[in-house]
Amino acid sequence: MSKITAAITGVQGYLPEYVLTNEELSKMVDTNDEWIVSRTGIKERRIMKDGATSDMATKAVLGLLKKTNTKAEDIDLVIVGTVTADYPFPSTANILCDKAGLTNAWGFDLNAACSGFIYSISTAAQFIETGKYKKVIVVGADMMSSIVDYQDRTTCIIFGDGAGAVMLEPNEEGLGIQDFILANDGAGRDYLVQPAGGSLNPPTIETVEKRQHYVKQEGKQVFKFAVTNMADISAEIMEKNNLSSDDVDWLVPHQANLRIIDATANRMGLSKDKVMINIQKYGNTTSGTLPLCLWDYEKQLKKGDTLILSAFGGGFTWGAVYLKWAYNS
Ligand code: UT7
Repeated sequence: MSKITAAITGVQGYLPEYVLTNEELSKMVDTNDEWIVSRTGIKERRIMKDGATSDMATKAVLGLLKKTNTKAEDIDLVIVGTVTADYPFPSTANILCDKAGLTNAWGFDLNAACSGFIYSISTAAQFIETGKYKKVIVVGADMMSSIVDYQDRTTCIIFGDGAGAVMLEPNEEGLGIQDFILANDGAGRDYLVQPAGGSLNPPTIETVEKRQHYVKQEGKQVFKFAVTNMADISAEIMEKNNLSSDDVDWLVPHQANLRIIDATANRMGLSKDKVMINIQKYGNTTSGTLPLCLWDYEKQLKKGDTLILSAFGGGFTWGAVYLKWAYNS
């Protein structure tokens, strides 16, 4: 019997309608379009005005079921990469199963900040490769507007809201996920963090007054680690699998900053036309960036294409996935 691999067989995104432009942000904080575009590559991002992370995830999943012609009750498992769960508990996956009618699935949230999708898809693949499950959905969804401080110009310009979902199914043609490398370093926890609301600093009037329930980022430090580690791990997965830059058809990078994306592509020896970029439209949607890239570029992907997915995020967490695309759309 040939080896079972876990292949993506469909992808669907959801973006809230409201567009928050650089121009509008420049009326909220002391910033301007020129600074934001030159430092990050972002022109605009989407904001969820009504609803929660599970609502974005549900829209993406319902779209995915329709597109792949799958019955909701056939889904075995759902993993939701997110740092903006609807509640501390129950999990967003739990709520998603109810809202999307996934009556035979179980699920859990996976918190790995901007590496949420990479961690989640690598985890999900194990359930397919062992033969245990036939249909697993992996979602990357974050409503960053719920934890971003719109008085902090260093963070509010970066983040946006959005969700993407992929279907994973067994493949016996050798397509799908070939390899992954995951890493973390908790010593970086203070550089990108939501300081309050957890067990260390439960909510009090003081934590609210100090604005500790918002994302805090030391941008320069995070940038330094992101540039190095995202490029290193992408090069490492290529070397480990004897891939040259000619062998790689697409880099699917986390969309945090165009300069980090460029550095990663350069390190891998890839030209710009092989790099998926949509940061200008959506900003950094945390766990949402990678599936939203796959969704935007789906029509350009061909069966057998070699993709490297790569991300870096708070924690620190980072990782890369090497996969072979499994279908023509
Ligand atoms: O997604 C997970 C991981 N996150 C990341 O990968 C993000 C990594 N970090 C970054 O992308 C960048 O550090 C930022 C985009 C957040 C900031 O860019 P930077 O080039 O590192 O800027 P900086 O923090 O060094 O600030 C440079 C200057 C400062 O002014 P002075 O001290 O030189 O006078 C800031 O006060 O730019 C100022 N500044 C701004 N000016 C206009 C900071 N934010 C803004 C702003 N508009 N929004």
